[in-house]
Amino acid sequence: MASLTVRQLDERLKKLLRLRAARNGRSVEDEVRTILREAADQAGTEVLENLAPPSARGIAPRGRSTPAEAMRVLLIIGGGIAAYKSLDLIRRLKERGFYVRCILTKAGENFVTPLAAGAIAGERVFTDLFDPAHEFDVGHIRLARESDVVVVAPATADLMAKLAGGHANDLATAVLLATTAKVLLAPAMNPRMWSNKATQRNLAQLVGDGFAFVGPNEGEMAEAGESGKGRMAEPLEIAAAVETLLGRGQSLSGKRVLVTSGPTHEPIDPVRYIANRSSGKQGHAIAAAAAAAGAQVILVSGPVNLPDPPGVTTVHVESARNMLAAVERALPADVAIFAAAVADWRVANAGEHKIKKGKGRATPDLTLVENPDILSTIAHRKSQRPALVIGFAAETENVAANAKAKLASKGCDWILANDVSPRTGIMGGDMNTIEFVTAKGVEPWPPQSKEDVASMLVARIADALRQ
Ligand code: C5P
Repeated sequence: MASLTVRQLDERLKKLLRLRAARNGRSVEDEVRTILREAADQAGTEVLENLAPPSARGIAPRGRSTPAEAMRVLLIIGGGIAAYKSLDLIRRLKERGFYVRCILTKAGENFVTPLAAGAIAGERVFTDLFDPAHEFDVGHIRLARESDVVVVAPATADLMAKLAGGHANDLATAVLLATTAKVLLAPAMNPRMWSNKATQRNLAQLVGDGFAFVGPNEGEMAEAGESGKGRMAEPLEIAAAVETLLGRGQSLSGKRVLVTSGPTHEPIDPVRYIANRSSGKQGHAIAAAAAAAGAQVILVSGPVNLPDPPGVTTVHVESARNMLAAVERALPADVAIFAAAVADWRVANAGEHKIKKGKGRATPDLTLVENPDILSTIAHRKSQRPALVIGFAAETENVAANAKAKLASKGCDWILANDVSPRTGIMGGDMNTIEFVTAKGVEPWPPQSKEDVASMLVARIADALRQ
């Protein structure tokens, strides 16, 4: 057997050997003997490979992108019920080609297990500041240094407070204090905790210190009867925010997106019209979110009391027929989103002059004719059909079932269905509750602001176009 002395080994291997020997109470030489014996017992090089976990050696398991090739995300999972969403976040980040490692705080371990997070990440999960396998090699410093971005999701009120105060009494806070990478926080807590002065003070401090935030969103809390601002952003939104933070965030960059918004006004005569209660808030929010994601956006808007969204080309129209013409002129587009509440009918015999009332004059008879269906027209086009055609379904009953039928009849790819019964306050309001209907099925989205619906939709679109 060729003679190999421990001194001839490289520094890293020596360090790992000393560590392993110390842990096992053996001399380094004895440890080498043990390893070789084990190696002989178990075929191949498996045992040598297991000398240290891959992450400790700075390499990723075979068959997957290495940290050298992929952007490295360190995900800190705090202790909150939203931690269950962090498992999906790992998946979403990996789908985007990120190399993901996780730290689970002690409180986080009450909600998800290291095993679950580790299985999805495909990497060992870190939990302890004083982990002998890592602290010997200044583990938290390495973790801090070896990350392009650190994401804290859920970022609890407690974690935010510790971070604002510069604490470092566990692995998560030590890494956060030691890292020079960008840090993104996805807060999640009870609405009263979020609005508490202390949390808002910490938020202002952290924003001032350069931390980035995504959410929290408005909506129902896990605790029965609780709702408000405090829900963790959805995994797709967090993944999109990570991309933005790393300069990859222009997820719709190079894409042309067409959006319709608002009501249409169908003239009865030059001064009167038929309209509906649409405010245009949802369509305008989608146009703004798509523009923020780097898309070239053309918004065809009916009459609304909203400013034109920044960075968006807005075309103002009145009637359904004007809207269709403007939409057709705006083609080609990669994505078309039809959020407008287009009037189904117009007056067939709209007067050229103001219709007069008066003694002896008959009450005018308004004959209605059907308007063109803009969504269906574009979805059924043989040429220049956008790759993704998305409609809305404003329903007052059987929301999901009607939306499914509409998906087929309109020929579109996705439908965002919502219940516009007056009791929901959706029509004209700031909140929306969507059932996301695709050929695959119906996915209920949480109640959230129209801006958050827009962000989620943009994240889904970017995802679909990427695939
Ligand atoms: O048929 P319904 O009005 O429920 O369909 C709603 C969807 O169809 C929305 O996306 C809306 O913008 C679109 N639509 C349209 N043109 C119409 C009627 C509806 O583009 N004339």
